[in-house]
Amino acid sequence: MNNSENKATSYSIIGFGNIGKALAGAFARKGIDVSVATTHDPKSFASDAAKIGPGIIPTTLAEAVKADVIFLAVRFESHPDVAKALPNWQGKTIVDVTNAYGVPLEQLGGQPSARVVAQAFTGGKLVKGFNHLGAAILGQDPAVHGGRRVVFLSSDDDGAAAEIGALAENLGFSPIKLGGLSEGGLLVQARGNSWGQLIFKDLVKFD
Ligand SMILES: NC(=O)c1ccc[n+]([C@@H]2O[C@H](COP(=O)([O-])OP(=O)(O)OC[C@H]3O[C@@H](n4cnc5c(N)ncnc54)[C@H](OP(=O)(O)O)[C@@H]3O)[C@@H](O)[C@H]2O)c1
Repeated sequence: MNNSENKATSYSIIGFGNIGKALAGAFARKGIDVSVATTHDPKSFASDAAKIGPGIIPTTLAEAVKADVIFLAVRFESHPDVAKALPNWQGKTIVDVTNAYGVPLEQLGGQPSARVVAQAFTGGKLVKGFNHLGAAILGQDPAVHGGRRVVFLSSDDDGAAAEIGALAENLGFSPIKLGGLSEGGLLVQARGNSWGQLIFKDLVKFD
């Protein structure tokens, strides 16, 4: 709940490809509603959403950005287009699921990719997370072998990290907080042609 407004937190996933669908599956498993958007008319992916669950709501990008918590599940290169959807992201938490693998460091001004994304979403609170697992694994029930699959979270905003940590637990994952984006967060960010050390590149195939 948002303490200030005493209303339920709303969620959206922008990008409904491999990772967007895997995340939608996690929401559906726990009966938490989430809207999903792409650049296309929501009717065009309505049947895919319905297959995942009744609480997966196809919508437009303009509607999806109204959510309190927004998962950014597009290619890293597309994040500026999404960021343009609002002049200011104040009051919103953006969960950056992108992997900037192969993006030249010069293009990032030498910065960690999540900081580049954070700067594009002016005024928003950014949490890097849910990006270290391949979609096929992220899409599975995180209750495995008597334990829970972990997700790594990093943020320069402790409140936002706590908020997404609580959500991760509600989705059945075990969150591990790594600290700031440029500190522990670097362990889960691809840089140039290197994967972050905590991205299980040897276990899963990434696109
Ligand atoms: N695949 C994996 O296993 C994996 C694992 C971890 C992290 N990631 C990261 O997750 C992100 C998504 O990967 P993916 O494999 O899911 O990619 P994908 O299958 O190509 O899906 C990308 C989605 O983004 C949508 N999209 C593109 N531009 C958009 C825009 N401007 N506004 C709204 N939606 C837009 C696309 O829809 P339309 O083109 O129809 O609009 C599509 O639904 C990438 O950054 C990737 O590095 C992927």
